[in-house]
Amino acid sequence: MVTVIDHPLITHKLTIMRNEETGHKDFRENLDEIASLMAYEVLRDLPLKDIHITTPMGPCDTKELATEVILVPILRAGMGLVNGIMDLIPTAKVGFIGLYRDEETLEPVEYFAKFPKELTEGVVLVLDPMLATGGSAIAAVDMIKARGAKNIRMVCLVGAPEGVKAFTEHHPDVDLYMAALDDHLNEIGYIVPGLGDAGDRIYGTK
Ligand code: PRP
Ligand code: URA
Repeated sequence: MVTVIDHPLITHKLTIMRNEETGHKDFRENLDEIASLMAYEVLRDLPLKDIHITTPMGPCDTKELATEVILVPILRAGMGLVNGIMDLIPTAKVGFIGLYRDEETLEPVEYFAKFPKELTEGVVLVLDPMLATGGSAIAAVDMIKARGAKNIRMVCLVGAPEGVKAFTEHHPDVDLYMAALDDHLNEIGYIVPGLGDAGDRIYGTK
């Protein structure tokens, strides 16, 4: 399932991020806020379990979350989505996948991987703002499937049609969430209109 989360606040904040005049502080702050808004939708069907508690007024049969949530940002830019989601789920665990895209071949190159043991049981959100060719997201999901993760969702900010097609063909069982589906990839694999290089804009490295 592919979902483009359509909400005026997300659209407005993403417009700020797209603007080349937006500096890294505002870029990061808006990314945090969009991540929280997206989490609300991405986690809408989280399982609950029955519990019994006592309120100041007496006994109460109610519910609490029945699963761990594991965030797996693809380094670097995926880190930009972690804090906004953690604000909503402070108990989330975090795994890391280090991948960079070789700028010549556009192929993802792995340089780091570290996961919590709950990866196999919990709901895993793989995070990366940009789904361009889809190569990085496909490789990241391959890596966590190989380690036994079963309930995986891919969360991106901006996708290109080429990346969405490649990702859904490789991982038809993984739900993909985006804040926007853009027009196309340019000749050097950047999303158009996009927002430029997400990692550089988050960390102020260009
Ligand atoms: C960017 C982005 C994705 C990848 C998307 O990362 O954050 O991980 O490119 O491209 P793809 O869909 O064609 O694989 P980059 O390689 O620039 O690394 P960075 O996050 O360290 O800047
Ligand atoms: N990576 C980015 O950061 N931006 C793009 O548009 C494509 C890949």
